[in-house]
Order: sequence, then C-alpha cells, then structure tokens
Amino acid sequence: MQKIAWLSDIHLNFLTRQELEQFTQKLSGFDADSFLIGGDIGEGPSVSEYLSYLESQLKRPIFFVLGNHDFYHSSFKQVYVEIYKLVANSKYLKWLPKVGIVELSSNTCLIGHGCWGDGRYGDFFNSKLEVMDTWLIKDFAHMDKTRLSHKLHELGDEAGGFFQFHFLEALQHYKKVLVLTHVSPFIESAWYRGHTSDDDALPYFACKAAGDVFRKITRDYPDRNITLLCGHTHSPGEVHIYDNLLVKTAGAKYGKPEVQEILVVKNKNNG
Ligand SMILES: [Fe+2]
Ligand SMILES: [Fe+2]
Repeated sequence: MQKIAWLSDIHLNFLTRQELEQFTQKLSGFDADSFLIGGDIGEGPSVSEYLSYLESQLKRPIFFVLGNHDFYHSSFKQVYVEIYKLVANSKYLKWLPKVGIVELSSNTCLIGHGCWGDGRYGDFFNSKLEVMDTWLIKDFAHMDKTRLSHKLHELGDEAGGFFQFHFLEALQHYKKVLVLTHVSPFIESAWYRGHTSDDDALPYFACKAAGDVFRKITRDYPDRNITLLCGHTHSPGEVHIYDNLLVKTAGAKYGKPEVQEILVVKNKNNG
C-alpha cells in the first residue's frame, strides 16, 4: 500500500520565505510516500526554483504537471527548457507529460498532462472574461481573438494527443488509472465559485480536446476504474462523468496552499 498526497494550485509565489519554509515543513510531516502537484506551482521565472526547493526538502517522488500561472512572465519555450533541464538532473522530480505511464502498483498507474482551456467549450468569441494569461504569457502577446483561438486549440490538441496515446495504453494494461491535470477536461468538473462555469468562463476553464478523448476511450473500458484530479478554477467539486470515471476538482486559495487529499493505492492482493 502506498499513500500519495495530492496538491493543486499551490501558487508558492504568494508566500513569504518563512511561509514557504513552514508549508514545506508541514508537507514533510505528512504520512505520504510521494506527492502529486497539479500545476500553478509558481510563475515562469520561479517555478523551477520552487520545484527544486520542494525536492530538496521532501526527498520523495514529486509527480507534477504545469498550470497556466507557471508560464506567467515567461514563454512556453523558456519554461519547458528549464523544466527539461531540471528533471533531467533530478532524482525525485517527475514531470508527468515527459514520463508517460507511471506504475503505482501492479493494477494501478498514473498519467498526467496540464491540459489547457482550449476555447472550445462555452462562447469564446463573445466571452467577456479577461484572463491574465493573455497579458502575462509572452506567446499570447498582441494576439487578436482569432489567433488566440487557434493557439488555444493547438494547446488543447497537444493534451488530447497525449491522452489519446497514454490513456488508451494505461487502460489496456491497468485496472485502475489515476489521471492528473491542471485544467478540467469536462464542463461538469469545471467548478467555479461553487457552480459549473458559464459560457464566459468555459473557454478558459476546460479542455474539450482532452475531454473528448477521455469520453471516447472510457466508453470502451467499462470495467476499468478512473479517477481524474484537476484544479485551475480554485473551486472544489466532485462529479462522476461515467460510473467508472470520477473527477475531483481541487479547491485553492492564494497564499494558503494545502494538501487536498491523501490517496491510498493498494496492491492487487489487498484490493
Ligand atoms: Fe491556480
Ligand atoms: Fe490555473
């Protein structure tokens, strides 16, 4: 049996040095064999440093995906280059889009990708929502809405492509699959302020390309058990998309990072 602590949207850049140390000390004391971090760890210039610091203090595997804030004040390319370098030289940091399928026990595996609000749910062109991503991520600078929609589709498709391959393979080989994302792949789990997101927010709060892949593949594997963990909207909720596909969305508050849940993974023989 192993215990995994799930965190999401910890936004460590909102903490003072002292708060960061206290939080990490608290994490260290958790009875957990490993940690899952579902993105929005810091911002572009700080995310690698925070991950390094967590690794040095926790000294246990840290499986993670990146969220939109992890690219703020930087670009996709710059952050990816830094994260690649970081994980290549790290013992415990496991960037899920890079590692693919992680076996947790003989019947359970873990996969993950940050996903991205891909502009396909809700009403993108009439949405009044002003998202910081478009000002703070260099790749989006000066894009009009048409170009932005193409870029969001591209980011969604990348996540969809990842899951098309890895989710299918995971279901073929494991009875239970744990999936970690940052953005919800479904409208139903894109909770926002206690309700599911409206047409203004949905283009940015859910990733349809990934959701379509999960729906299509899950239908062919009714005997498998899938738990998907996401975050991004900071509003907690739980929903069954299918009987065998449960989605948990993390709650979060800036400056108050916390463990969402300790997940218990049992071996085949004891359930
Ligand atoms: Fe967040
Ligand atoms: Fe986010």
